[in-house]
Parts: sequence; structure tokens; C-alpha cells
Amino acid sequence: GHIVVLAGGLSYEREVSLRSGRRVADALRSLDLDVEIRDADATLLDALQAAPPDAVLPVLHGSMGEDGAIRDVLDLLDVPYVGAGPQACRIAWDKPTAKSVVRAAGLTTPPSVTLPKEVFHDLGAAALLDRVVSRLDLPLFVKPARGGSALGVSVVREAGDLPAAMVGCFAYGDAALIERYVEGTEIAVSVIERDGEPVALPAVEIVPAGELYDYTARYDAGDTEFVTPARISDEAARQAADAAVTAHRALGLRDLSRTDLIVDAVGRVNFLEVNVAPGMTETSLFPRAVTAAGLDLGRTLRDLIARRRF
Ligand code: DAL
Ligand code: MG
Repeated sequence: GHIVVLAGGLSYEREVSLRSGRRVADALRSLDLDVEIRDADATLLDALQAAPPDAVLPVLHGSMGEDGAIRDVLDLLDVPYVGAGPQACRIAWDKPTAKSVVRAAGLTTPPSVTLPKEVFHDLGAAALLDRVVSRLDLPLFVKPARGGSALGVSVVREAGDLPAAMVGCFAYGDAALIERYVEGTEIAVSVIERDGEPVALPAVEIVPAGELYDYTARYDAGDTEFVTPARISDEAARQAADAAVTAHRALGLRDLSRTDLIVDAVGRVNFLEVNVAPGMTETSLFPRAVTAAGLDLGRTLRDLIARRRF
């Protein structure tokens, strides 16, 4: 069968997606599969209709890729694809919504406030920000309510730095999620489905060279140290695996996902967010977890594709 890897797109994460796409295509081609990389541009629909692929592997990060839009289109065209459907993506992509869904499913997620850009600009937010600080306590984590790759994200340790963090965040999105910053061990737990059952792969610990696992720390090789399995207690590792599987199920995800978590000083596992199209670059977490589990990236993805078609 003919497999199309969708990569690129027009989100802020275009370059990351192109790298993910190349990595994934190489892994599948090494198994002698017929793979084409396609950008999600104005020619996409014509191309998919002219020569419908047997399966699509969306490796589009950020808006359009992770917000469900492209999957709505694939559903309309009756093209099978790997990964969650559009409605699940919309819920997972919206961090405040995802947090409330997983909280209802029993997970712990740091307290937060969501402020849209209009509230910040039009209502004059200085007084509100004081309230946010007293409600949540410092330090705070400010990030776009919808976004990825840590673009527009900052840690705020002094109340006076919050307005600038908000402005930086609004450069990448129209709403800010202000969350209590939980200090601890940052880990990512990837999930793949086997026979329709979500299975957690080993937790990967993230140790950025600087304070933040930011864009550069993510994609410049050598800027971050990864430790697999993560240096957390067996109990925390079990809870983290449970949390990733619970999030995958509660959000109605399919095939694969990656949940980002913080294990705090007392060993409690905090949900930060879930990714429906996790990064697949040379420095990304999902491929590391696959390798740590003793699996092969190409075969793992091929198995997921096979469940959709051929
Ligand atoms: N948003 C990037 C691609 C990630 O989470 O891996
Ligand atoms: Mg993300």
C-alpha cells in the first residue's frame, strides 16, 4: 500500500514537523514500504483525491495538525490515518480543556487560570494579574492555551515579570494558560496502542541545560540531557504510566500519544499536557521511548498503520 506522511504545514512548528516527517519516512522506507512525504499546502486536497493513499500518517505539529482540522478533512475524503480523530484532537489541543478532562478522570494537574488576549488588552489586566498571583502563588508557568514546542512559554518567578510573559505568550496564541509552576522531575510518557489497548512506554526524563526545556533545548542536539528510564521511584513510574494511559483514554485518543508530566518533590505525578502528534525528530521524546522499550520506530509505526489499512 501507499503511505503518505503529512509533514510541514503552516504552524509555528513547521520546521520541527519537516524534521519529524523525514525521520518517520526514513524509518518506514527502511522496511521497504512505499512512502511519500507531503506538505499540507494548497495542493494537498487535489493530490489526495487524484491518488488516494492507503493510509496517512499525520506528523503535523501545532495548529491544523494537532487541532483536529486536517483529520476532519481526511475523514471527509475517507482517507484512513493513524492517530486520534478530530474531536479528540480539539479537546487535547486545548490545554485548559484537556486539564479539566483529565482532572475529572482523577489525575492531578497544577491549578491554573486561562486569560484570553482580549481580556488582557481590552479590560486592562494589571489588577487581574495581581489576583492570579495571589490565587496561584509564584512561580508560574505561562504558555499559550493552544500551542507546542514551548513557543511563547516562560517561567515567572517574580510578579513583576508576569506582564512581559503574557505579551510573549500572546505572540503565539490568543489565550494564555497561567499555571502554577511545579518544581520537580520533568518526564514524558509515550503511549502506543497494541491490539487497541493503550500501553505506556518507559518514561523519559528531561534535563535541560538551562532552566527551561524551550525550543532550542528541544531541537538543538546536545542542549538537553535525556535519562531513560527516568530517575524516579518505582511508585512514581507506575503512577506516571497510569497517568499517560488514563489521559489517552479520557481524551479519547487513538494509536499514539505522549503525555508530559512533572514528578514533584513528594513524588506526586502532575499532568501538564498531552500531544496527539508527538515530535519525531532525532532529539524528540517519542522515538527515544520507543527505543528504550526495545522497539523499532519504523516497525512500531508500521503496525499502527496496518491497523488502519492493509
Ligand atoms: N510539539 C512538539 C512537536 C512535541 O511535543 O514533541
Ligand atoms: Mg506539546
